[in-house]
Formats: sequence, C-alpha cells, structure tokens
Amino acid sequence: MSDRIKREKEYHNKAFSEGVRKAADKYYSIHVTSLSSLYKTLEKYGSGKKVLEYGCGPGYNSFFLASHARELVAIDISDYAIATATQKAKELNVSNAVFVEMNAEELDFPDATFDLVFGNSIIHHLDLDKSYSEIKRVLKPGGKAIFYEPLGHNYFINHYRKATPEMRTEDEHPLLMADIELAKKYFSEVSTDFYHLGTLAAVPFRNTFLFKGLLAMLSATDRAIFTLFPFMRKYAWFCIIELTRDNQG
Ligand SMILES: C[S@@+](CC[C@H](N)C(=O)[O-])C[C@H]1O[C@@H](n2cnc3c(N)ncnc32)[C@H](O)[C@@H]1O
Repeated sequence: MSDRIKREKEYHNKAFSEGVRKAADKYYSIHVTSLSSLYKTLEKYGSGKKVLEYGCGPGYNSFFLASHARELVAIDISDYAIATATQKAKELNVSNAVFVEMNAEELDFPDATFDLVFGNSIIHHLDLDKSYSEIKRVLKPGGKAIFYEPLGHNYFINHYRKATPEMRTEDEHPLLMADIELAKKYFSEVSTDFYHLGTLAAVPFRNTFLFKGLLAMLSATDRAIFTLFPFMRKYAWFCIIELTRDNQG
C-alpha cells in the first residue's frame, strides 16, 4: 500500500470514529435538491442490477442502493467504515449487500463484473488514471458509472477548504474540469450535471421556515445560470458525473 493510500485510510478511520467532519454538516443541508436527482438516476440504472459502491464510507448511501439493486458490493479503504457498514447491514437485516476493505485503485474483481458503479465523494481522493481504468475494467460493456463529486474551481469554496484543513485529507483534490475531461480517454460517453452555487446562500436559513422555499428558488436560479452561462458551471460546488462504458466489450 502506497503512503498516499495509507494516509487516506488513517485519516478516514479517525474521521469516521471521531466525527471530525461534523462541522461541515450545515453546508450539506442544501444537498437535498441534488441528492434527489442523484437518487433518481441511481434507481434508474441500479434497479435489479449488480452494483459496486466505490468508497462507500460507513454506508450513508449503501442501504438506498441495496434496496434497489439485485446485489451490492461496497468497498472502502477504511476498515472502521467497513465494520460500521457491516454492522448496520446486520441490524437492518440487509442480505444482498457485502462490505469489503479494498483499494479502489486496484480492485479485486474480474473484468466486466458490474452493471453500475457508484461513488459519492470518492474519485477526488484517487489517482484518476488508475481509478478510471479500474472502473472501466470491472464494468460490463454498456455499463454506467455515476459519481457525485466536489469541484475545485470556486475561489470562495477553496478559501473555506484552506481554512479548515482538519476536515480533509492532504491528498484529496476536488475535481477540475480537466479531471472530468480525462474520463473521455476511458469512457465512450461522459455527461455532467452541476449543482450548488447560489443555493449556498440558503445555509444560514437551514433551521428556519424559510429554508425550503428559499432553497427551491435558489436551485431554480442555479439551473438557469448553468443553462444560460455554461462557463459558470465549473464554479458549482458539486457535480453528478455519468460515465458509460462502450458496448464493444
Ligand atoms: C469523503 S469520504 C466519502 C464516503 C462515502 N462515499 C460517503 O458518501 O460519505 C471518502 C471515502 O473514500 C475512501 N477512500 C479514500 N481512498 C480510498 C481508496 N484508495 N480506496 C478505497 N476507498 C478510499 C475513504 O476511506 C472514505 O470513506
């Protein structure tokens, strides 16, 4: 295991056991809008299928995936996260999901194993060439990979990241447009959907009656901005990336 992968494992074992990222929860309150699109896409491509969850953490999305998939295999480098998710699966009586400690850059699966690969906030922790190549290898021809990842172009968001180093690993790299462009080397189709620019202004109102309406209005404004001014998309906080493996085998 390389030093970088060891650092990721140690950081996440500590972060998940001590809850060091809790301070960022208030910002994630606005994700309800993007997560609702994400979950619709996962349901569309994952229902009845064999699914790999890539970098599953303690299973925040795993049980939604398992409720639709025929079979879920979820991997993560953090043994603490894998033990937590396995315990949760037992408590919830989920029998079609397994959680395995594994390095996402060197997957221990045969070629063409999965119909869908999904990851939330994982590929920006990885060597993208290794990761894209492994995802392509384990996907069946025509299979899809869906990622929900933070972007690294917004000056204000990057300023917040610099001011809160304890909330991130030293090797993570919120994605740049060039990182998404790189996926075209491996996948026949690469599409993107951008979320959260103006919606960040709703965060201070998250515990008030104004929140729901304000978030809906700002989400609609974000959609209009990203449609009318495509150069603004890269300043979004998060992006849903959909990758398709070609059908040629
Ligand atoms: C920001 S967390 C996201 C966790 C989870 N997907 C979620 O929705 O909260 C990043 C995850 O990537 C995992 N990770 C980092 N490097 C990895 C690697 N090389 N192989 C597998 N998992 C890795 C970490 O252990 C951590 O669980």
